[in-house]
Amino acid sequence: MKIIPVKLGPRSYDIHIEPGLLKTLPKHLASFNKGQQWIILSQPDIIQLIGNDLQNSLLKSGFYCSIIPIPNGERAKSFDQYQKIIEAMVQAGCDRSTTLLALGGGVTGDLTGFIAATYMRGVDYFQIPTTLLAMVDSSIGGKTAINLKMGKNLVGSFYQPKGVWIDPDLLTSLPREERISGIGEIIKYGAIRDAPFLETLSTWLDHLETFPFTKAIEHSCTIKSEIVAKDEQEDHLRMILNFGHTIGHALEAHLQYGGLRHGDAVSYGMLCAGWISEQTGLLNSEERQFLEDTISKLPSPSLPDIDPNGVLQHISSDKKYRDGHLNYVLLSGLGNAVISNQISMALIAESLKVIL
Ligand SMILES: NC(=O)c1ccc[n+]([C@@H]2O[C@H](COP(=O)([O-])OP(=O)(O)OC[C@H]3O[C@@H](n4cnc5c(N)ncnc54)[C@H](O)[C@@H]3O)[C@@H](O)[C@H]2O)c1
Ligand SMILES: [Zn+2]
Repeated sequence: MKIIPVKLGPRSYDIHIEPGLLKTLPKHLASFNKGQQWIILSQPDIIQLIGNDLQNSLLKSGFYCSIIPIPNGERAKSFDQYQKIIEAMVQAGCDRSTTLLALGGGVTGDLTGFIAATYMRGVDYFQIPTTLLAMVDSSIGGKTAINLKMGKNLVGSFYQPKGVWIDPDLLTSLPREERISGIGEIIKYGAIRDAPFLETLSTWLDHLETFPFTKAIEHSCTIKSEIVAKDEQEDHLRMILNFGHTIGHALEAHLQYGGLRHGDAVSYGMLCAGWISEQTGLLNSEERQFLEDTISKLPSPSLPDIDPNGVLQHISSDKKYRDGHLNYVLLSGLGNAVISNQISMALIAESLKVIL
């Protein structure tokens, strides 16, 4: 089993990665079992697929464990669901010793994390990510959130899990499109932090059917954990994880979070950010071309007809605007992200021509 530490002083924890790990999870969690209640939070399909089996194996191993279902889709990250689950936990007699297991993708992880952060002022939780995006990104780093009508992730906190358990075998049931979208985030890690990894990825992408997910997850988690350890609360370095996300988020918001998967949106955003990096002299044309070629190997869905002005409007209301400046993540050479607050709206608008 690959173990990657997330070094955060008293909030440190490990990421564990191993194909087939879910079957042996009760053994690994045994040292955390003090006879408290364990609650699995998960969506109906995932409960059917793996949740019921996990509950049964935990029960057999002496855990006092139940399941609370949450709805599918982004709407699960709502005040309404938050309240319902908290109330269900009170009714089930959960106390401060209760431990939550987030079994699902980023939606389940974000909601469970926020409940863990606030239930009786905080209870322990573990992340058991089941989507590629959650395995390489959302389950690590303790960002938890729910949405408001006015925007995504507007209510939340930094609250670290006690551990992350990744079973890459779970990707076999994940729709192919979800896997492709998740690879977008993996390319991001190479682009911002590790040029040799980006080169390796480019080779792997020549044969998508044999893409070595476990290796890619291990490498991505190592990069993310290192960045989070240096900047837990996104004061500076952690912002580089937003490479491709300024335009990516704006595309998602413009399409009302239904038209494009997150990782696909990030892939398009990286194409634009790569172009801006070249325009500002940070990336030479060969490097920019390599980034573009690598991203283009992904069979991402094509974009529908989009009005660039609509996308730009979302960028102006981006929460990464600080003190009136937009912090834009660019590449100063492949594998080396930098943050600039000097990027004009005009240049961002021009960069959209690369994708629209
Ligand atoms: N906290 C963070 O740092 C962070 C980072 C990135 C994204 N996010 C959040 O993550 C969310 C998106 O996460 P996501 O892309 O994982 O989406 P998701 O959680 O909605 O999962 C996508 C779909 O895949 C299904 N699914 C999950 N695992 C499966 C499996 N193994 N087999 C078959 N189907 C499976 C789910 O039921 C769902 O329908 C967004 O809300 C975003 O804001 C958070
Ligand atoms: Zn992302």
